Amino acid sequence: MLDPSVIRDLRKIVGPANLLTEPEELTVYSYDATRLTAVPDAVARPATAEEVSRILLLANRKKFPVSPRGAGTGMSGGSVPRRGGIVLSFERMNRILEIDEANRVAVAEPGVITGDLQREAESRGLFYPPDPASSNFCTLGGNVAECAGGLRAVKYGVTKDYVLGLEVVLPTGEIIRTGARTRKSVAGYDLTRLIVGSEGTLGVITKIVVRLVPLPERVETLAAFFGDRGAALRVLPDTTKKRIVPRTFEFVDGAALRAAEGYLRTGPPSGAAAMLLIETDGSADSASREMDAIEAICREAGAAAVRRAKDRSEQALLWKLRKAISPALYAIKPVKINEDIVVPVDRIGAMLGAIDAAAARHGLLIVNFGHAGDGNIHTNIMIEERERAAAELAVREILETAVRLDGSISGEHGIGMCKSAYLPLEVGKDALAVMKRIKQALDPNTVLNPGKIFIDPERGAFDPSSGRGTGNAE
Ligand code: MLT
Ligand code: ZN
Repeated sequence: MLDPSVIRDLRKIVGPANLLTEPEELTVYSYDATRLTAVPDAVARPATAEEVSRILLLANRKKFPVSPRGAGTGMSGGSVPRRGGIVLSFERMNRILEIDEANRVAVAEPGVITGDLQREAESRGLFYPPDPASSNFCTLGGNVAECAGGLRAVKYGVTKDYVLGLEVVLPTGEIIRTGARTRKSVAGYDLTRLIVGSEGTLGVITKIVVRLVPLPERVETLAAFFGDRGAALRVLPDTTKKRIVPRTFEFVDGAALRAAEGYLRTGPPSGAAAMLLIETDGSADSASREMDAIEAICREAGAAAVRRAKDRSEQALLWKLRKAISPALYAIKPVKINEDIVVPVDRIGAMLGAIDAAAARHGLLIVNFGHAGDGNIHTNIMIEERERAAAELAVREILETAVRLDGSISGEHGIGMCKSAYLPLEVGKDALAVMKRIKQALDPNTVLNPGKIFIDPERGAFDPSSGRGTGNAE
C-alpha cells in the first residue's frame, strides 16, 4: 500500500482528476492481453515529461514501483504492475506532434494509437510500416517499449528499424534525448536501441521520432487455402527462389482458421488445413506482377482455393479474419499459453514438426499462426487449467527447439513477466549479467517496472497457474 503522503504528492503533480485510486478504476489498469492481473495502488495520468520526471523522483525517494502502460495490448504481462505501486498511463499524451514531410519524419507522444499515425502518414502519401495486429488500439509508446513487429516485418522490418530518436525519463528522473532526426548518427552509444524493446524497465518514453517511407502505389492481397499444411509451407521457399519479397506472408493453421471463422461468423467454414495471407506492394506494375507469380506458386503447390482481393473492402475483410485469431482462440479452450518463437525461415517446417511432436507427447492441443515470412510463429497451447503442468513441459521443449534452430524464444511479444524463467535458454550467463548491470546502473532502486524480463529477486519466477500477476492481487 502506498503511504497517504505519496498519494497527496502524486495528486499535486498530475492534478486530482488524473490520479485514480477507486478500486473499480484500478481494475481497468490491472491487466494486459495475457489476462494476467495485478491491481495497482494508484494510476497516474501525466501530461508532460516533467510530470513523469517528478513522479520518478518521488518513487526513488519513497521507494514505490512505477509501471508504464499504453493500451494494455501486450502479450507478456509487460505493463501489469506486478509489485503494485502506480501505473503510469499515457492516455493524455496522445498527440501526433509533427509530420515533417520534407525529411520523412514523424514526432509523436507515446499514447498515440499506432493506426492513427499510420493513417495520418498515409493521408500525406507517406507510410509508417510497423503494423502489429492490434494497430487499431495499441499505442506507439507500447510498440517502442516492446519493439513490436507485426505483419509487415518480412519486407519492412520492425519498430526498432524506424525509431530515430526518443525523449526518455530515466528511472532516476532525468529527462534525456537520444538519437537524432537524421538517418545517420553515430554520436556515442546507441541509447535509442537500448531503450527500444527494453519493456519499460530502463526508461519511460515521452516522445518518439520515427522515420517514414513513401507510400507504395499499390497493395495486392491474396488468401490461399490448402488441404494440407506441407503444401502451404512450400510457397515461401518457392517465392524466395523467385527473388520476391512480399510485404506480408502470414500462415494460419486449420484450427486457428476455424476459430476465427466461427468468431466472425463468416459463413460456412473453408475446411482448410492451412491458409496463407500474402501481400505485395510497390508500383502498380511490380505489385501485380509479383502477386501473379505468387498466385501461380500457390496453385502449383496445390492450393484448393485462391482468393485475390479486388478492392480495399475485400482486403479489409481478409485482414479482419486474420486479426480476429488472437481473441477467437479462447473459444477453443479457456486458457491460452501464447508463445512467440521465431526461427530462420528455412527451418519453419522443422519447428512446426517439433511442435506437433510436443503436442502428441503431452496430449495437448497446440494452434499455430503468425508471420511465417519472417519465421515468427505464434504457438498457442490451448488448455484447461488441469493441463497446465503438461503445457509447461511442452513450452520448455518448444523454446529449446527454437533456440537450437538458431531462433529466439520471443520474436515480438517480449519476455515480460511470463517468460523470465526461459530467458537463460537463449541468453548466455555473461550476457544476462551485462543486462542486469545495465538495469542496475539506470535504476539503482528498482522502481521502474520491477519483476519484468529477469526473475524477480523478491517474488521469484512468475507462477502462471495463479492467473495473477501478483501486485495487490496477492
Ligand atoms: C498477432 O500477430 O496476432 C499478435 O502478435 C497477437 C497474438 O500472437 O496473438
Ligand atoms: Zn504477431
